[in-house]
Amino acid sequence: MPAHISSAPGKTILFGEHAVVYGFPAIAIPVNARQAKVKIFPAIRFKPEEIRFSAPQIDIERYYSDFEPNHPFRIAVEGVKSFLKIDQYPACKIQIESTIPISSGLGSSAAISVALVKGLMEFVGYHPSPSEISNLAYQVEIIFHGNPSGIDNTVISFNKPIFFQKEKPLQFIRTKNDFSIVIADSGIKGNTKAAVAGVRERWKADPEKYNDIFKKIGLITTEAKLAIEKGDHEKLGKLMISNQEYLQLIGVSHPVLERMINIALANRAYGAKLCGSGLGGNIIALVEPDRANFISNLLLKSGAKQTILVTLIKGS
Ligand code: PMV
Repeated sequence: MPAHISSAPGKTILFGEHAVVYGFPAIAIPVNARQAKVKIFPAIRFKPEEIRFSAPQIDIERYYSDFEPNHPFRIAVEGVKSFLKIDQYPACKIQIESTIPISSGLGSSAAISVALVKGLMEFVGYHPSPSEISNLAYQVEIIFHGNPSGIDNTVISFNKPIFFQKEKPLQFIRTKNDFSIVIADSGIKGNTKAAVAGVRERWKADPEKYNDIFKKIGLITTEAKLAIEKGDHEKLGKLMISNQEYLQLIGVSHPVLERMINIALANRAYGAKLCGSGLGGNIIALVEPDRANFISNLLLKSGAKQTILVTLIKGS
């Protein structure tokens, strides 16, 4: 069995985060400029099921048998074994590395889950479909995040722009024009589990207000899908600004994110908003392609820790 390499992209949510947890639609796109990579090497001197995990960026250097029962990596191996009806997974060494920043809303945990599940299946000769990968990666995401909507594992497994709604058929989005997006990192670590739990607490305290906001975010997201399909930059930018206002109202924004958003808007971005669970992490700004570098440099000068330029390409 030769060594096997699998990888998965990062992602960003363009519209509908948080509302998606409550059954409303959201739009997400893959970010291929950042990748999680899993290398699996056969370990001929190891006993069956002796699996050595090495993930230096998250301080993991451990045998599979030493993980607690609900460790995400253990859930990934167990999930693959049960899906493929394997009693014992072959002995191997697994190296995990990623260029996706951790805790910043770019899908680092989901990308690792997807690359790991895909690698584990392919290493034993099975070639899974994107939805098979996504379903297993979702089980791993539950451990990472508690109650995930499933949007991260889905967009990353399919590696295409998606219009996602829980328990509804997945829709892919094709654009009529290129869209340039600057992603900028506030440097403040987000915490998806805590942000989602905070929204749930506030929703429980005032369900009427929150249900109304989620519904409005859902309508914005549906309009955004049409704007993307029509290639309408102006409209899409305005919808981003409205979505951000609702994200502020549900308490997941942050003064540093708002400052970055305002810098982008003051410099003729079509629109800007936080992306992902918020309280830190990244913002996205929709910009003219020839202003992307300018706005990116401006954000870096005013404190952004890093930026990524993404183009949603016409027809994709
Ligand atoms: O993992 P993040 O920070 O990109 O955010 C996930 C998006 C949420 O809607 C807040 C949660 C979810 O499970 O969809």
